[in-house]
Amino acid sequence: MPGFAFRCLARRYATSSRPTLASAPTLRDFLHTDSSTRGPLDATAELLPPYVDAATIDGAGRSVYIETYGCQMNVSDTEVVQSLLRDAGYVLSSSVDAADVVLLNTCAIRDKAEATIWARLREIRAQHRRARQRGEMSASAPRVVGLLGCMGERLKGRLLENERLVDVVCGPDAYRSLPRLLASARAGQPSLDVALSLEETYADVAPVREGSDGISAFVSIMRGCNNMCSYCIVPFTRGRERSRDAASIAREVAQLAMDGYREVTLLGQNVNSYADPAADTSAFADAEASPTSSGVLREGFSSKVPPPRASYRFAQLMEELALAHPEMRFRFTSPHPKDFPDDLLRVIAKYPNVCESLHIPAQSGSSAVLEAMRRGYTREAYDALIRRVRELLPNAAISSDFISGFCGETEEDHLATLDLLRTTRFDKAFMFAYSLREKTHAHRKLVDDVPEPTKQRRLREVIDTYNEGARTANAAEVGRAHLVLLEGISKRSELEWIGRTDTNKRVVFKRDRVPAALDAQHPGSAVELGPGDYVAVRVSEAISANTLRAVPLARSSIQEFSAARLA
Ligand code: 5AD
Ligand code: SF4
Repeated sequence: MPGFAFRCLARRYATSSRPTLASAPTLRDFLHTDSSTRGPLDATAELLPPYVDAATIDGAGRSVYIETYGCQMNVSDTEVVQSLLRDAGYVLSSSVDAADVVLLNTCAIRDKAEATIWARLREIRAQHRRARQRGEMSASAPRVVGLLGCMGERLKGRLLENERLVDVVCGPDAYRSLPRLLASARAGQPSLDVALSLEETYADVAPVREGSDGISAFVSIMRGCNNMCSYCIVPFTRGRERSRDAASIAREVAQLAMDGYREVTLLGQNVNSYADPAADTSAFADAEASPTSSGVLREGFSSKVPPPRASYRFAQLMEELALAHPEMRFRFTSPHPKDFPDDLLRVIAKYPNVCESLHIPAQSGSSAVLEAMRRGYTREAYDALIRRVRELLPNAAISSDFISGFCGETEEDHLATLDLLRTTRFDKAFMFAYSLREKTHAHRKLVDDVPEPTKQRRLREVIDTYNEGARTANAAEVGRAHLVLLEGISKRSELEWIGRTDTNKRVVFKRDRVPAALDAQHPGSAVELGPGDYVAVRVSEAISANTLRAVPLARSSIQEFSAARLA
């Protein structure tokens, strides 16, 4: 099949400009890889094989429609892809029917996520066929369907062969190749680039925040994952950890502040293991300077790959951003429990604009299961971390992830997870039944031995136990004051605003006029509120496990609200 010949070439040209995991140790030393000085199209041009000229890859005003599935990292990646394609002459479309190019940015984390994508691809092909039959689309205008992201990385060439539902497959580190891949597909050549990179962070690509509300933005600060938890496909689909340089992050955040954004969520697969690449990144060599003794990892937490010996880490980045933009809220996701040193907790406590909402994914409450999962901590170490968080951040909301029915999980292990949910009372939890993924350690070495009905029953019990705790935690909110960032009008009622607390709880409140400031002596005249305003509220009712109703007190600011110290 001609497609195969092209795929080989595509890979070769792609890898000659960006080192892959397989070839990295030898190629890396010989390559100029400073992407910060190059524009996105320069990088694309570098990837071209000699027989493809720049005119061929020009989008020439063709329209692109992108659907995004999975995590926030994918949402952020879609913004990067939009930027790269716009620079290559494409226009963004919000209609799947009219678009010349349809791209799905996909997730591979569980089987169910992939099943959704297969169903969607069949639907897209069928719709297209019907439109052609009805004469609404010209048969000579080739429409290109492409699959981006983790599922592309996982299934690679199999996707081009299977039912021929897609023409292009592009992995998360290969988005600069997209214009070339789309051009090949237009010429009838199915094409693929799934090369993983040790360095790609898209630091020089300004994301297109097309669907954004203009209030909250994601900023990707690192990519990849070195943890190799035994159940997880992410290290295989997203590659090794690499951090973006701090200066480019600071520039992007400053631009967002100038554009009027009020909230930035720093993103990464392992966001709190961020280490500025400009710092000394040699590994910890001896016990004297071990990651634990030097305060990088908490006592009781270990890491398969030693963290880099960088002095500028996540806590420093967060502090610098918080200081530079005191009226901008900062959140981060998704972190690993091993990377919550005290200095990070202190930064969160010290700066009122760093949200007191911590995601600390436990996965299980049983040390035996945690060991089988290769999480690098025990239940005791996790409990100690939670105690420390409560000590330094008594008002913080804590959220978590749980997997039910992992290989070898006994009824006793499951009860230990329920116990963790009862004792910690998480404010939010994401709970899943274990889904076996090919390639992972669990697939190769462990047995997926918990029967599906048992997995589902345990998951149900985990969800019920979480809900009980969350309802109790939410009921305790009644009477408390919060600063809410107003997002817009509630979908349930035109008469109410909706927003979020610092602790990431949803709050609805009446669209009344309120004093312009909290200061009781000079409240000013009453003002209309609008999206992007900070509003001081007092909680009047816990509507559900995650939503509160409140009475608005006044328009405010992060600094004013923090100084007022309302109970
Ligand atoms: N099966 C079920 N859940 C999984 N997660 C990751 N891999 C799997 C899997 N194979 C969950 C974890 C992780 C979250 C993003 O998805 O809880 O923290
Ligand atoms: Fe899905 Fe994980 Fe990939 Fe995000 S990183 S798209 S959650 S598999």
